[in-house]
Amino acid sequence: MQKITIKKILNKKNKNPITCLTAYSKTIAQIADKYCDIILVGDSLGMVLHGMKTTREVKIETMILHGKTVKNFAKKSLVVVDMPYRTYTSKSIAYKNANKVIKLTRCDAVKLEGGKKIAKIIKYLVDKGIPVMGHVGLLPQSSINFKLKGKNFFQRKNILQDAIAVSNAGAFAIVIECVVESLAKKIAKSVSVPTIGIGASKYCDGQILVTDDMLGLSDFFPKFVKKYSNLKKIIDKCVKSYVKEVK
Ligand code: KIV
Repeated sequence: MQKITIKKILNKKNKNPITCLTAYSKTIAQIADKYCDIILVGDSLGMVLHGMKTTREVKIETMILHGKTVKNFAKKSLVVVDMPYRTYTSKSIAYKNANKVIKLTRCDAVKLEGGKKIAKIIKYLVDKGIPVMGHVGLLPQSSINFKLKGKNFFQRKNILQDAIAVSNAGAFAIVIECVVESLAKKIAKSVSVPTIGIGASKYCDGQILVTDDMLGLSDFFPKFVKKYSNLKKIIDKCVKSYVKEVK
């Protein structure tokens, strides 16, 4: 079992699709680790696991708690931890917080949401030796409007510029969330680092999904999520049977 490195991820661009899933717990980390290149401890855990209204409520301590667990049980995959809302508002704040996340979880990289506006912060972290994954397109920390992005010229131009700025700042990969196919294709061709799509077409260099969504465990099913099971229904049946037997 060879550890996936950032170099290996970079080498996959235009060659082998990069496989990624989210994990917040020991069991999912162990399973994802068997099959995936990258495991993301996403701040989606706020909504998916803790029932928060948006990811903005997630605290850095929560990311560290879940990040530590996932990293402990993912021996092969590259583990990336999301930096939560308002933890990277300036270079020094970002460095202090990213350093804390890396030190306490021993994860391989952090992910920051945003484009041109945070490119200088990404560059600062990368220059200080902190590997960064970017995230452009739909940005859940900035907007609660979960609509497809890139439908008009200005959005397309902006998101493309965001991806280029993040790539030039030194991010080793970029998540592209919920953008039109033609834009995802254009971004993948315009940046030298791998693009990881979520609802952003097959033209990305890899794909990511929120594991609870694809397992049918969450209540959130965007159009682009293929449901591979309906675990919520299965658990419901099991609990019902158990309670019936006890009674
Ligand atoms: O928080 C998260 O799980 C994410 C994915 C949707 C990419 O950022």
